[in-house]
Amino acid sequence: MTAKILDGNVLSTRLREALRIRTSELTVQGCQPGLAVILVGSDPASQVYVRNKIKACETVGLLSEKYEYPADTRPEVVFHRIAALNNDPSIHGILVQLPLPPQFDADAVLAAISPEKDVDGFHAENVGALMQGQPHFIPCTPYGVMQMLKSENVNLRGAEAVIVGRSNIVGKPMAMLLLGASATVTVCHSQTRDLALHTRRADVLVAAVGRAKMITGDMIKPGATVIDVGINRQADGKLCGDVDFETAKEVAGLITPVPGGVGPMTITMLLTNAIEAAERTIGK
Ligand code: GUN
Repeated sequence: MTAKILDGNVLSTRLREALRIRTSELTVQGCQPGLAVILVGSDPASQVYVRNKIKACETVGLLSEKYEYPADTRPEVVFHRIAALNNDPSIHGILVQLPLPPQFDADAVLAAISPEKDVDGFHAENVGALMQGQPHFIPCTPYGVMQMLKSENVNLRGAEAVIVGRSNIVGKPMAMLLLGASATVTVCHSQTRDLALHTRRADVLVAAVGRAKMITGDMIKPGATVIDVGINRQADGKLCGDVDFETAKEVAGLITPVPGGVGPMTITMLLTNAIEAAERTIGK
C-alpha cells in the first residue's frame, strides 16, 4: 500500500485565498491587519522561518514589520520594543521567534506580549484558555495539523492519537487539541521506554521531536494517518522530517511530506490568527 500524500501547500493556497478576502474587507474598513516579528540572533533556521512568515504576510495583504537584533542584545531592549508594539494600534499580532539567546528568559518575554496580540498562543493566559477548551489563539503548528486532519475528514472521535514530543510549541498544545476532538491521547518523549509499542497503536501519529527520520515504517500501524512536524537538515543540505518517509509511506494510509506538509500550514495559521486579532479589534 502507498499512502495518500497530505499536501500542505495545496491546502494552504486554498485557505490563503479566503484570508486575502478577509484582509481586504478589514483594509476597506481602515483596519489593515499588522504583524510584528521580532528576531534576536542569527540562528539560520530562525532566519529562514521569519523570512517566510514576512513573505507570507505580503501574499494575503497583511502589513508586516520585522525587528532584528544581534545575539548579544540586552533583554531590556526587546522588552521595550514589545511594550511599544503592545500600544501600537496598527499592530494586531506580535511574534517573538524562538529560541532566544541564553541571556533571555523566554517565558518572561512571552509574558510581556499582550495576550490580545499573542498570535503564537504562547502567553500563559492563552495556554490556560486552550487547556480549558476555550482557546483565544491556538498555537500555529498544532492548529495547522488540526486543519490538515479536518481537510481529509480524519475521524478523531475515539481514535488512538500518539504524539511523539512534549514541547510547549507543538506536543503539549497538540495533545489538548486532539483531546478536545475526543481522541485518546498518548504523549511520548525522550524517556518513553518502548516508543514503538505506542506508535504502532496509533490511528493518528504526530511526530514532533526534531530527530531526522526516527519514525520508521515498522513503527507505524497499517493505514494510520502520519503527521510529520519535524524539519531537519541532512548532511547533504536537504530537508527531511522526523518520519522516514520512504518506509512510512508504504504502511501509512495518509502522510504529510517534508518539506511541503505541516510547514506551510504553520504559516497559514499564523496569518489566520493575525487576521482574527484584527477582526476582534473592530468587534467582528
Ligand atoms: N520557533 C519554532 N517554532 C516557532 C513558532 O511557531 N513560533 C515562534 N515564535 N517561534 C518558533
